Amino acid sequence: MKRTLIATSIAALLALPASAAEYKVGVLLPFSGVYAGLGAHIENGFKLGLEHFGDKLGTDTITMLRDDTEANPGATLAKAKKMVLADKADVLTGIVSSAVLGGLRDFVHSSKTPLVVSNAGNDAATGERCSPYITRVSFSNGSITRVMGPWLAEQGVKTAYLMAPDYAAGHQMMDAFRATFEAAGGKVIGEAYPPLKGTKDYGPYISKAKASGAEALMTFFAGGAAINFVKQYAEFGAAKDLPLYGAGFLTSAAYVHVQGAAADGVIASLHYVPTIDNAENKRFQEGYQAAYEGKLGSEFAVAGYDSARLIIEAIAAAGGDKAKFKGELAKVSFNGPRGPLKIDPATHNVIQNMYIFRNEFADGKVTQNVLATIEGVQDEVNGCKM
Ligand code: BEZ
Repeated sequence: MKRTLIATSIAALLALPASAAEYKVGVLLPFSGVYAGLGAHIENGFKLGLEHFGDKLGTDTITMLRDDTEANPGATLAKAKKMVLADKADVLTGIVSSAVLGGLRDFVHSSKTPLVVSNAGNDAATGERCSPYITRVSFSNGSITRVMGPWLAEQGVKTAYLMAPDYAAGHQMMDAFRATFEAAGGKVIGEAYPPLKGTKDYGPYISKAKASGAEALMTFFAGGAAINFVKQYAEFGAAKDLPLYGAGFLTSAAYVHVQGAAADGVIASLHYVPTIDNAENKRFQEGYQAAYEGKLGSEFAVAGYDSARLIIEAIAAAGGDKAKFKGELAKVSFNGPRGPLKIDPATHNVIQNMYIFRNEFADGKVTQNVLATIEGVQDEVNGCKM
């Protein structure tokens, strides 16, 4: 009799679903300041990802906390500490600026808080300052621009002038381009780094670049700075003598419609363009445009979308065990809107395709046509010791 009772209760226990875990996800994005528009796209994409992949959570749940990084390292560190220590966030995500990521690294590492980076490309965060708690689904700065060096050299371009905002991301993107362009026989003959905040007039910088006689202007600008830069460059009429190239944030799908004809002919490299032809991108673009007034989903929105998917798939793999969840994040891989995506176990940086594309303006709209795909772009370990 007793034996039967025990057997029955074990059977009943096995039939019960594992106890549900609530995961608090702290979303830290710029909702004000120079990168505010980028933050909105990432958050939109994150919410769409929760909607598209949330069914994989089973009985587990996600609660979203959110705060404004203001693209300010000090403010972000204080807000991250509050989210983790007071609000008990299980995982942080977001972060747009490389400077903000640099300021957050030691806190997430020492507090053992998982951070899923959905934009900031700071090379060191998956290089010499890597951490088992940092997983990046976006890109590293170097990976975006180093593919342009050999490609430009192959097009017969021999000299380039560099321009980017004066902070970590600007310098890392330009250094990576210089290394591969010069290795392929090109030469950088000048460079300029205007301040990230407060630069309204790029005219003097463009004029100096034109006077250098370089055959190409290679740049990194994003957000409001990119809109201004591309418009002012077009007004300057420099395109004939000094064609414009860039890290693809220069003409992001988030704002290329605002740049319009000014973006025509600009060639850039990026991990995502809306014209990628696969089923996952179709689902993403259709869902995004339906949810957000017909706006195109950008690389920023894709990174938010993929961050949500990565977190959900890690929760599902952990089966309600929060300690296990931390180790599952870097094991996730999938085919997403940008193509195949996996995380490098040696650095926790994303391995993905890069696309070199040309902006074509016709009938009042810009289309981003892919000229070349560089598959499976992966960083060197760059001093990372996990
Ligand atoms: C960065 O700071 O890492 C960054 C910001 C905007 C676009 C791309 C990179």
